[in-house]
Formats: sequence, C-alpha cells, structure tokens
Amino acid sequence: MTRHPAPPLQVRTLREGHGRPLLLLHAFPLDHRMWHPVVAALPHGRPVLAVDTYGAGDAPVVPTTPSLDVVADAVRDALDVAGYGPVAVAGLSMGGYVALALAERHPDIIRGLALLDTKSSADSTEARERRLRVADELLTERSVSAVLGMAASLPSPESVSADPTLTARIEENILAQRPEGLAWCQRAMAARPDRTAVLGGLAGPVLVLVGEEDPVTPVSDAEHMVVARRDAELIIVPGVGHLSALEAPTAVAEALAAFAARCDPA
Ligand code: MLT
Repeated sequence: MTRHPAPPLQVRTLREGHGRPLLLLHAFPLDHRMWHPVVAALPHGRPVLAVDTYGAGDAPVVPTTPSLDVVADAVRDALDVAGYGPVAVAGLSMGGYVALALAERHPDIIRGLALLDTKSSADSTEARERRLRVADELLTERSVSAVLGMAASLPSPESVSADPTLTARIEENILAQRPEGLAWCQRAMAARPDRTAVLGGLAGPVLVLVGEEDPVTPVSDAEHMVVARRDAELIIVPGVGHLSALEAPTAVAEALAAFAARCDPA
C-alpha cells in the first residue's frame, strides 16, 4: 500500500468518555459540526470523536492530488497520535466514503462500520464530470454558492417543514467552508473507486442506515451494500432525506448507540 504523506489532521473530542470510541466522519459540504445534534442525543459513556476531512472546517487544504486515500491515511495517523486504539466508525455520505477507504487501508483500527446515507460504489461518468464541474465553479467563483442550494435539496420536504431552522442551520455550516477546500473534496470523491468488496472482508458489525427519501444515495444504494454484506443491519428512517443526522438526530443516535455497543469487546 502506498502511504500518502500530508499534513496532520486533528481528532476532535465531541464528548469525553471511557471505553471504545465512536468516530464520526462528516458529509459534504459540511464539517464535524453537523454531528452536534446526534452527539447531544447519544447516551453518555464512550468517547465520541470526529475528524474533519482535508479542506473542511479548519482542516488544511493539501497540495496533493485530491484523494480519499490521503484522508483515510491521515485519519489513521491522527488516531494514532491522539492515542486511540480500535474505534467504531460512522460516516455519513462523504464520511461513508472516507470510512470505507479507512476500512480498506487500515482495517486494524476499525471494530465496526456504520454507513449512513452513503454508497460503496464509484460515481458514474456523468456524476464524476458533474463533480469536476462543481469543483471548477467553486474555484472560479471563489465562493461556496455553487453548493449552497444543497441546504435545501438534501433534506426531505417533510424534515424541512417539521423543523423551520433546518435549512438555515445547514446553510450556516456550508457558508463556514472554503471554496478551495470544497473543490478538493469534490475532486477526491470523484476519484474514489468502487469499495463494495471491502464490506465483505471487514471484521465486526456493519450498520447501513438511510433516509427513506434520500435523493442522493437512495435506499437502493443501501440495499446494494447489504447484499454485499449479508449480516449488515439495515435501518430505513421514514420521511428523512440525505442528511439523517440533522433531520432525525434522535433516531440516528439510537441506532449508533446500539451499533457502538456491538463493537465493544465481548
Ligand atoms: C455528501 O453528502 O457527502 C455528498 O452529497 C456526497 C456526494 O456528493 O456523493
């Protein structure tokens, strides 16, 4: 395996605790703050950690070729430096792509994988080209406006009408990002391979959770992962779109707490 040297990433402690940590990996075009509602709903006990991908939050934008492999290697290094042993990992959408890269490249650091609103397959040619166009637009416009509409398009209409603050909270997190960082993430996602085979070989429990109305990684993508990993638990959250952690934080916290408990030593 070729390792990719890059500046360090930071492990954030979202909640102190004891026992097997739960590591949370965020979606695009957001950062670790998207997990705050879930963390607030999680039972106290284990440490809850998060790492921002290169280019997200205040993580550096690296000069290397954009790649989620680079992110996975840096997450591994960050966990090592912070002194954390094997962790239960949960990734939402882009966070799921990073989690699968981590599972492929550093399986020894993982004791279970929760994949939320994500997919294990690669992009179609059209999807890849769309990402690269958006990356170019982010850089040319020097603004995040090319992705700001995702605040309204990712959650389901039901979630938006149930919580009038939801779209504004997502927008606030998008506006806190840097265009060059988001462009790097888009290009890294465009370059990712199909990682469906990783699911079959991974030790430990696998949870697949998806919003019933997810317009980006629909239920069929979740089912595809469950076919590849027969003992995976599948949870479909009714009435929820692509950002289950923000739309249904209590349901997601309950699912993650049960998943993390299954990752504990027997
Ligand atoms: C995300 O939520 O991380 C993105 O929508 C993922 C993607 O564009 O595939």
